[in-house]
Amino acid sequence: MKIITSPKEVQEFLKYKKNIGFVPTMGALHEGHLSLIKKAREENEIVVVSIFVNPTQFLPGEDLDKYPRRLQADFEICKRAGVDLVFTPNSENMYSEDEILIKAPKIKGYILEGFFRPGHFDGVLQVVNKLFNIVRPNRAYFGKKDAQQLYLIKQMVKNFFFDIEIVECKTVREKDGLALSSRNIYLSEEERKRALTISKALKRAAKLSTNIKDIETIKKEMENILNVDELQYIAFVDRDFNYINEIIPNNTIILIAAKVGETRLIDNIWL
Ligand code: PAJ
Repeated sequence: MKIITSPKEVQEFLKYKKNIGFVPTMGALHEGHLSLIKKAREENEIVVVSIFVNPTQFLPGEDLDKYPRRLQADFEICKRAGVDLVFTPNSENMYSEDEILIKAPKIKGYILEGFFRPGHFDGVLQVVNKLFNIVRPNRAYFGKKDAQQLYLIKQMVKNFFFDIEIVECKTVREKDGLALSSRNIYLSEEERKRALTISKALKRAAKLSTNIKDIETIKKEMENILNVDELQYIAFVDRDFNYINEIIPNNTIILIAAKVGETRLIDNIWL
């Protein structure tokens, strides 16, 4: 397995390679990331994983500095999963001063996650745009756990005519339902228990939605189940992130963002 830090060297290494599958990450790899890597391994000749805690997608006051970094363990995981190349850029070789910038769309980049983290998706799209140009993959793998991110990346691929297939991967959960996240390590035992009410509320909502189409009724049920410190949103959107008034079978995503203690968690369920 190759490990390369320089974007130019990655371009050199991949120059004549075909059938490349790419998994962008911020490291601290867990089973969720691994499921993307495994899928990429099955479907491509070359598998590239990037590990980069991208500063431009963190807002001032967010957890950029304390975001978990476990590079050696991540390399081991990648090696065992049969990854061909791990790309570990840094801010110095990824960014220059006074750059040309990418803006997330005014509406869908600034609702929900974009509302609570304004500018977050500008940074995500900026870095993914660079990563796509460096790796030039045939397929790139993203988790449904970050549903709005996935949607916006698909839109960027369309708007910028990237010749890349975006592969949507299902959310990996702990046995008890908690969605895997690099941020789960911030949770105390007591907080973890309460964090579980997020996936419980989503599961309940999915069950209710088979009979009840009215969103307010479902939302109330969810609020009764949730035991979090700050509920930021419960939202119902279609697959294109338009708000909906009632459940549309096979075209509804229910999303939750909440803080448990100081930890901000997101989860969702696709109907
Ligand atoms: P990161 O949070 O490390 O996630 C990398 C990829 O793993 C994303 O596509 C994310 O949706 C997916 N993922 C995370 N938890 C998952 C889970 N429990 N099940 C399935 N997939 C999961 O998302 C980012 O990094 C960054 O924003 C990035 C796209 C790399 C740009 O910096």
